[in-house]
Parts: sequence; C-alpha cells; structure tokens
Amino acid sequence: MLEKEISSIRRECAAAISEAANSQKLGEAKVRFLGKSGALTLLLRELKNVPPAEKPAAGKLLNDIRAELEAAFAMAEENLAKKERELRIAKETLDVTLSKPYTEYGALHPLSVVKNDIINIFTGMGFEIKDGPEIDYEYYNFTALNIPADHPSRDSADTFYINDKILLRTQTSAVQVHVMETQKPPIRIICPGKVYRPDDDATHSPMFQQVEGLVIDEHVTLSDLTGILLEFAKKFFSQETKIRLRPSFFPFTEPSVEVDLSCAMCGGKGCRLCKGTGWIELLGAGVVNPAVLECSGIDSKKYSGFAFGMGVERATMIRYGIPDMRLLFDNDIRILRQFR
Ligand code: DAH
Repeated sequence: MLEKEISSIRRECAAAISEAANSQKLGEAKVRFLGKSGALTLLLRELKNVPPAEKPAAGKLLNDIRAELEAAFAMAEENLAKKERELRIAKETLDVTLSKPYTEYGALHPLSVVKNDIINIFTGMGFEIKDGPEIDYEYYNFTALNIPADHPSRDSADTFYINDKILLRTQTSAVQVHVMETQKPPIRIICPGKVYRPDDDATHSPMFQQVEGLVIDEHVTLSDLTGILLEFAKKFFSQETKIRLRPSFFPFTEPSVEVDLSCAMCGGKGCRLCKGTGWIELLGAGVVNPAVLECSGIDSKKYSGFAFGMGVERATMIRYGIPDMRLLFDNDIRILRQFR
C-alpha cells in the first residue's frame, strides 16, 4: 500500500520535474510534493497510523524517498539555473557585428590632390621643396627679380601692399631670391605656395597657389627646361601630352617662354576646352636672367639656370575640365564629392 503510493509519487514527481520549464515552475512543483501540505508530507503524517511493527521499515522508506526527491529537485534546480544563466548571458552579449549607421568619408580637395601630384613628380626628378614668406618685402617680389620700379605689376591695383616696402607676394618667384641668397649652386628646387592679387572673376581669385621651379648649375639651358617640363606634362596629364614653347616676356628670364600643352580633350584637333586651338597655356618659364643671378650673388659667367611658375588652380581646371575657378573655392560638397 505504502510502496504503491511512494512509487506513484516518484513517477508524478519525475514528470513534474521534467515538465518544469523554468525555476519558478520547478519551485511550485517542489512545494506540491515537499511543501507543508505537499503530497509526500501528507504521506509522512500517515506514518502515525502504521502498526508499530511496520513503523521502522515504513519510516525508512519514507525518509529514503524524501531524500531521493530532494536530491532530484536540487539537481533539476541546478540544471535550470545553469540554463537560465546561459540564456541571460547570451542575451546580454554585445553583437559587435551589428552594422553602424552610414558615415561619409572625407577626401582630399582636388587642389590638394593636384598640388601633391605636382610636388611628387618634381621631387621624383630630384627637386627639393622650399618655402618662403607669404608676406614679403617688395625687394624679393619685384626688385631682385629685375622688375623695374615703374612696372605695371607693382601698381596697387595689381598688388596688395601692407606698406610701401611690404606686400602679400604676388608670385612664388620671390622664393627664388630667398633661396639664391642662402644656397650655393647647384640649386634644384620647387616652391609650392599661396600668392595674392587683387583679381576676382571666373579665372582669377585674390588668393591662388603656384608652384615655382628653379634650377641653377653650370651649363643649364633652355633645352633642359623643355625636357623637364615635357616629362612633367607626360606624368601629370598623360604620356601622349605634347608641349609647345611660345616666346614671351618676363623681366626675370631671358629668353622667356609660355608653355602650352596639347589639349587632352581633343588631342590637338581643337575643341571648346582649348578654344579651337588644340593647345592650352599651362605656365610661364625661361632661362634665368643673368641680372637676377648677379643680384643675389651668383656668378652668371659660371652658372646659368631656368625657372618656371605654374598655377595650381589652373592645372586643376585643365586636368578636370573645370570651367570656373570659383567652383574650387566655394566648397560645394556636391562638386567636391565628384573628386573622391
Ligand atoms: N611669376 C610668373 C607669374 O606669376 C610665372 C613665372 C614666369 C615664373 C616665368 C617663373 C618664370 O619662374 O621663369 O606669372
């Protein structure tokens, strides 16, 4: 009789334990069997009605089943607690693979890209980079470059003056003089930098950038200049690019030339970009005027040189076919994005 009840409690209890989906359900099942008025507790109370001779054996049976059920519950509790802990940890884990909101990456401004390209091409040919002041004496910007006192470029309509001796440099050519004063030939330098002029329209800006070049050594000629500039044009634009030298005039070079590029858009046939000529003007250059060398203490009988100065904005406009220089300064993100 007692054994029958015990085995049915054992079965029911095992079923209740395996059905308990969580700790709370398991706790409720434990109360149902082992609680104050649980099934096994009630059975224990029946012990007083068992005949004295059978009491010890019945007592042992009941104690054994009680220990067995407690152990079964303890094991189930532990298992469930472990499962629940694992579940919680899995839920709390930070998913590092989650994609973040889209961010836009920045990029160099086209003017910086072009300036860097120019610098890299010339440093690749052995040129050193030199720097000079943007606020300079008129001596460096004009006088030492053989620009006469009455030259129109000195007019306050063409130059920003701080006072009668000091100005915002109008050309990086001023750096040539600083370098020649401090460095003995051989000199092979480029000077990238900002220059200032009171101009403001589609192809001029009050501030723009130039890259000046200067080479001084024994036996330097116009054909060295031509070779270097052709090499530059091929690297900067394309291998097919040709250059053309036209006679020009600058006080600091003799002879002076304007250097044109074959038009990259039409290949020289003539188009909108080159205004039908097949050529695009890139820069001014020439053989350094001996008067300029002598003025800075370089022996013009022993040394000769060539120089050139190109506009970074101009080179950028030519390379990308940009019609208006102001597009490069407005910083309209829709324009800049096209250069990423
Ligand atoms: N400085 C001239 C300009 O701003 C450009 C130039 C022409 C530079 C001839 C030179 C040169 O070094 O030799 O228009």
